[in-house]
Amino acid sequence: MMTKTLLALVVLLSVLGNSVAIPWYSLNLNYYRSRCPDTERIVRRVTQQYVSRKPSLAAALLRMYFHDCFVRGCDGSILLKSPNNDAERNAVPNLSLRGYEVVDAAKAALERRCPGVVSCADVLALVARDAVLVIRGPWWPVPLGRRDGRISRISEVNLPSPFANITTLKQNFADKGLNAKDLVVLSGAHTIGISTCALVNARIYNFTGRGDFDPAMNPGYVRALKKRCKPTDFRSIVDMDPGSVKRFDSHYYNVVAQRKGLFTSDSTLLDDFDTRHYVQIQALTNGISFNRDFSDSMFKLGFVEILTGRNGEIRRKCAFVN
Ligand code: HEM
Ligand SMILES: *[C@@H]1O[C@H](CO)[C@@H](O)[C@H](O)[C@H]1NC(C)=O
Ligand SMILES: *[C@@H]1O[C@H](CO)[C@@H](O)[C@H](O)[C@H]1NC(C)=O
Ligand SMILES: *[C@@H]1O[C@H](CO)[C@@H](O)[C@H](O)[C@H]1NC(C)=O
Repeated sequence: MMTKTLLALVVLLSVLGNSVAIPWYSLNLNYYRSRCPDTERIVRRVTQQYVSRKPSLAAALLRMYFHDCFVRGCDGSILLKSPNNDAERNAVPNLSLRGYEVVDAAKAALERRCPGVVSCADVLALVARDAVLVIRGPWWPVPLGRRDGRISRISEVNLPSPFANITTLKQNFADKGLNAKDLVVLSGAHTIGISTCALVNARIYNFTGRGDFDPAMNPGYVRALKKRCKPTDFRSIVDMDPGSVKRFDSHYYNVVAQRKGLFTSDSTLLDDFDTRHYVQIQALTNGISFNRDFSDSMFKLGFVEILTGRNGEIRRKCAFVN
């Protein structure tokens, strides 16, 4: 307990050191200690059950959490369903639609134990952390006490685009109180998971409309991708971190450094002095500080535009407002 508190303090100080004005005091590592003491244990058990059976869920859950936090803040709004199919979740590309059942199962177990106490926003924050831990990725502290939002609109989904350049990405992150270091560190999440040819084909077949490929890409990698993705194929799966797609490690930075980033948003990390420097250091050192950095930035991500106090509610079912 002592060590946990100390660790949280250290993380808090290092976060403050990054000088972003986040209300770090508004969440609390012990938030449910008296309200629902087994919260973390229950979420961990359920997540472990699902992810150990199907490890690819870890990527989907991590991405789901990122999306939740980037649209209307970490308020569980990504989990809401709309009868008209116009909620946030309806805008998310297909693959990311996986993993809702894990959050629902964890929430159901918590509702049996302490009804109406633990928010879906907190459940998702814990599930994402625990899912990464199951595949032996880094751990990060998850302070709790977020409340659930009541609004989820497809029209508000303004996630960073895989086609975006570094200037735009830095601005997207700055808009959420995250800096360029957070951008390059959190992009390291692409060390796991998959996408589809649909998001890649323009880059390898017709970059400027003249049947060319993006000159920022390694030609050998383009050849390999073309074997995988035929011009009219929008469905086949491609790995985000070829060669190490299942392991949560720093291999992503080697890939980017070799100009084999899958998306423009990956490649463009080489277009800025600071982010390029980070990519190169991690690639050269086998990820000397990646785990610690990832932990710090995930901690920060968990504070983006949160609802606390009397704002929002504690949903009974994560897919519906009360
Ligand atoms: C920097 C801006 C980012 C952009 C433009 C971006 C874009 C994307 C895109 C387009 C996909 C493929 C989705 C699909 O085909 O359905 C993807 C996958 C993924 N993203 Fe990102 N992402 C970004 C940052 C992040 C962050 C911050 C995280 C988490 C901390 C993250 C975690 C993931 C994961 C784990 C996958 C694989 C999902 C799976 O296997 O289901 N991404 N990303
Ligand atoms: C995914 O999207 C494709 C095309 O956009 C669609 O045909 C397919 O049914 C979708 N799959 C799921 C599971 O929603
Ligand atoms: C980055 O993208 C934005 C939006 O598409 C564009 O306005 C800007 O000129 C681009 N910047 C660079 C340096 O290419
Ligand atoms: C490439 O792009 C150009 C301009 O957008 C378009 O006219 C052409 O049909 C495209 N070619 C292919 C093979 O998609």
